[in-house]
Amino acid sequence: MEQYVIKGGNPLVGEVDIAGAKNAALPILAAAIMTDEPVLIENLPDVRDINVLLEAIAEIGAQVDRLNSSTVRINGSAIKDLSVDYEYIKKIRASYYLLGALLGKYKHAEVPLPGGCNIGSRPIDQHLKGFRALGANVGISYGAIVARANVLKGSHIFLDMVSVGATINIMMAASMAQGRTIIENAAREPHVVDVANFLNSMGANIRGAGTDVIRIRGVDKLHGTKYSIIPDQIEAGTFMFAAAATGGDIMVRNVIPKHLEATTAKLEEIGCEVEEFDDAVRVRAGRKLCRTHVKTLPYPGYPTDMQPQIAVTLSIAEGTSIVTESIFENRFKYADELTRMGANIKVEGNTAIIDGVKKLTGARVSAPDLRAGAALVIAGLAAEGITIIDDIVYIQRGYENFEQKLRSLGAEIEKVSTEKEIQKFRLRVG
Ligand code: UD1
Repeated sequence: MEQYVIKGGNPLVGEVDIAGAKNAALPILAAAIMTDEPVLIENLPDVRDINVLLEAIAEIGAQVDRLNSSTVRINGSAIKDLSVDYEYIKKIRASYYLLGALLGKYKHAEVPLPGGCNIGSRPIDQHLKGFRALGANVGISYGAIVARANVLKGSHIFLDMVSVGATINIMMAASMAQGRTIIENAAREPHVVDVANFLNSMGANIRGAGTDVIRIRGVDKLHGTKYSIIPDQIEAGTFMFAAAATGGDIMVRNVIPKHLEATTAKLEEIGCEVEEFDDAVRVRAGRKLCRTHVKTLPYPGYPTDMQPQIAVTLSIAEGTSIVTESIFENRFKYADELTRMGANIKVEGNTAIIDGVKKLTGARVSAPDLRAGAALVIAGLAAEGITIIDDIVYIQRGYENFEQKLRSLGAEIEKVSTEKEIQKFRLRVG
């Protein structure tokens, strides 16, 4: 089992390049199989979730050529199997995007039902409601969702809640339905827009992505394309908070500053200076961080995927902060770990009350999920002494070369897998 071992206390200083957005890349890879022509995708992040989805896509018969770590060519012409293996959905829930892609293209898809996950129960009723509205017969058989239609017909769909996954999945299927689909109360996240732009570059006709009403006119066929994925706003935000929590100064490059506005606003509120450039943001930590309140919301609100990172930072900010999680039910699992590092954080329902402490101290902690894991790394970097983080496999799902990027900013962090390596690190850092 790999772990991170960190000696905290160094302010992170320097420049870092952000990879492509994982949450845009996942549906884009799934959508790439909707044509029988080759599709070239660039700026792909080299992270575990992406690699698993590529395996799932190859497994159903598509040709997948990884040209280099950030470029892949996919050809969906040879797909022979419309049923996705449980092994893949078990590893990444986002394999459910193959449901919308296969249903749109072949009018038939079978994908195992994703289970719960570490951040709480995550139903997909809105995805299924959308497929049914398009005329598909959707049932559950032997643990899998089976969706089938003679023809898919455009429809007027009103989502009961703002869901990124449902918006994208329905958008994919509707791209190849007959006639016009309108998705109301659609998610407005940048990755929804990126998937729409990608599908449009394949010949789809999608308008309004980025607003809460998306209009899609179905087409019979999609064609090959070449497409570059947008930068990852969550990876960027994680480095921005790493600068804040360590008293550092980081130029975060290859980003779209507009996508980071909610994060930027909070950093400024707690006393950091954020300078925006065309495709970069520079975060300089204030001498003293101060409290704030934050509530997670769908875009353009403050992202739930940035909640643990701000909470860790607020744990060493002066005053009492309140963090409210309004998207997922179980996203404070890191609080106990953070407490072991000396934080004063009390969780009541969907709210965490954080009394800032002067400093955190290193401890052995465990990453409960992807973003919380990254937040614990930030805590370790800010803490006095040595922190060991177990279960970093979660972090590797979504952060490319995380430890290398942090080291290039002056962090003392190593990936280790034995006690002996931990001892060696301890001796080295003194
Ligand atoms: C995506 C992101 C995830 C991010 C989340 C919110 C990917 C792979 N994951 O997850 O990192 O935290 O958006 O920005 O892109 N819901 C239902 N029924 C549904 C669908 C959703 O009740 O059919 C609920 C969910 O339980 C949750 C809320 O709606 O409470 C939002 O979920 P959703 O936006 O769908 O998140 P994901 O697409 O799963």
